[in-house]
Parts: sequence; C-alpha cells; structure tokens
Amino acid sequence: MKIAVYPGSFDPITNGHLDIIRRGSKVFDKIIVAVLINVEKKHLFDIDERVELIKKVTSDIENVEVVSFDGLLVNFLKERNINVILKGIRTTCDFEYEMQMAIINKELNNDIETICMMSSPEYLHISSSNVKQIAEFNGSIERLVPKEILQNVIDKIKV
Ligand code: PNS
Repeated sequence: MKIAVYPGSFDPITNGHLDIIRRGSKVFDKIIVAVLINVEKKHLFDIDERVELIKKVTSDIENVEVVSFDGLLVNFLKERNINVILKGIRTTCDFEYEMQMAIINKELNNDIETICMMSSPEYLHISSSNVKQIAEFNGSIERLVPKEILQNVIDKIKV
C-alpha cells in the first residue's frame, strides 16, 4: 500500500489544500493529512479545530486520514513506517522553500522522498494567510475555502 503524508498548518484548510488532497488521493492508496501542532505560533484555529475542519471537508474521500503531529515530520513518518511526503507548489517561492525542506528531510532520513504536485491554476493565489486577512476585513472568502467551513472561518474571525 502506497501512503503519502500531506503535512501543513492548515489554519484554515483552503480550496488549494483540498485540491491537492483530492488529486493526491487518486495517485496514492492513502493520504494522511498531518496537521502540525506548533505551540509557539499563534493560530486562528486550535489544533483540534483544524483537524475537525479538515475531516469535515474530506469526509467524502475514503482514503484520507487526518491526524495531528508534533516535532519533526521525519519522526512522524518513521513512527508510521511511511516514506513519502506530498507537497503542493503554487509559485517559484514555494518551489525554493519546498526544495530546501525536501533536502533537509532527506538529510534527516535518506529513505524519505518528497513528491510535489503543482497547484491547479484556479488555486494558485490562495493561502491560509490571505484567507484570514480578507475575512478580517470583511472581504469575500467564498471562493477560497470549502463551502462546508466558510461560516466556521467567518465566525472565528469575529470572535
Ligand atoms: O503549512 P505550512 O506551515 O507551510 O507547513 C509547514 C510544515 C508543517 C510542513 C513544516 O513546518 C514541518 O514539516 N514542520 C515540522 C518540523 C520539521 O520537521 N521541520 C523540518 C526540519 S527544519
């Protein structure tokens, strides 16, 4: 069984993330969406909320599991005996960042391969950061996040 881990902060999950999960789920037998627990970083949604939102929008995809992880990604992969990291790439900035991450993860564990999937053109401009900023100033995020969580994001920003 070929399993890939799709890691990230997902604060919140966007249509771009969901596109990579959907497409990845057709390439791999299973996708594990791994949400980073980062206590140092300030998040809009806490870790359990982020996991729940991803579960909600991926409930129709059979071969997707959503979990949280702490510490090094390579350790999480080792614990689960998985050697593939799936990443999405939107821009050349993402490419440079992901190339560095792929090399550092390989440095930490030479068995690990990072597979990058190009973003679909309609999602190239979407990031969790711009979703939060637009929502904060009452702009429309309707086309940026899955419809099932649109209200969750709007409500959370208002708090
Ligand atoms: O969505 P993000 O914030 O771009 O995701 C980044 C993430 C979670 C994939 C990355 O920060 C990560 O893998 N963090 C775990 C710590 C780690 O393994 N770092 C690599 C060595 S510096």
